Amino acid sequence: MNTLQLHRVSKIYEGKIMHKALKNINLTVSNGEFVAIMGPSGSGKSTLLNVISTIDTPTAGTVTINGKKPHDLRKEELAIFRRKELGFVFQDFNLLDTLTIGENIVLPLTLDSTPVRDMDKKLQIIAPILGIDYLLDKRTFEVSGGQAQRAAIARAIIHSPSLLLADEPTGNLDSKSSKDVMELFETLNVRDNITTLMVTHDALAASYCQRVIFIKDGELYNEIHRGDNRQQFYQQILNMLALLGGEKHDISAVRLSQHHS
Ligand SMILES: Nc1ncnc2c1ncn2[C@@H]1O[C@H](COP(=O)(O)OP(=O)(O)OP(=O)(O)O)[C@@H](O)[C@H]1O
Ligand SMILES: [Mg+2]
Repeated sequence: MNTLQLHRVSKIYEGKIMHKALKNINLTVSNGEFVAIMGPSGSGKSTLLNVISTIDTPTAGTVTINGKKPHDLRKEELAIFRRKELGFVFQDFNLLDTLTIGENIVLPLTLDSTPVRDMDKKLQIIAPILGIDYLLDKRTFEVSGGQAQRAAIARAIIHSPSLLLADEPTGNLDSKSSKDVMELFETLNVRDNITTLMVTHDALAASYCQRVIFIKDGELYNEIHRGDNRQQFYQQILNMLALLGGEKHDISAVRLSQHHS
């Protein structure tokens, strides 16, 4: 079964200069897959994720999630659909400073007016899985970046969404916390079968996924699948990034310039 299907999706930003951010994207993500999206800065990765998450609307084409077309839903239906089917993780965690870590995690349930007892039960189950059960009463400014991101992931999955979307979830984390977060995503994917689509710049983070899709200038460029060997997959990802060209801070750009000289 397919959790996500994009059929000829395009996104044009109108403005002083018209910009085609996504061009005719066809993409299928099956139930239980763990997929990374990579590509140079400005290639349309966040636009793609925002169109899927219904934060933004496509100019043309259709997005289907679990057989439903969220962009066709009315406002109230869409709000319910998003709360039920989708989970989001952002680069900057997006936790509310006025709430405790625990209160942040149960926020999606609060919005759905779940009884307090049920919320508490779910919280007690999910917090140890993410290794943050001792942090639930703390404020967001009292925890580390890695801990904040784990809380954000708990919040994104506490309502058991059918699709977890993450935009640069390790972008603000050091390498140890990045590794922890990626291992967590991997566990959630393998054990709980959570379908995950993640945008990342980080080849190491992407190597935890089963498939990496590369986009360039708003178009699908290529995709590679992971075999048994993550180390080998990591190298393949680096090679593909080198082929794509990237930003100056990417290893890929260094390799590319060496290649050309
Ligand atoms: N709201 C907007 N209005 C106009 N143009 C936009 C808007 N949002 C994004 N763009 C343009 O669309 C293109 C794709 O942007 P997007 O944010 O999807 O890139 P990205 O691949 O996520 O880049 P990064 O890796 O830097 O986050 C860019 O050229 C960007 O300038
Ligand atoms: Mg982006």
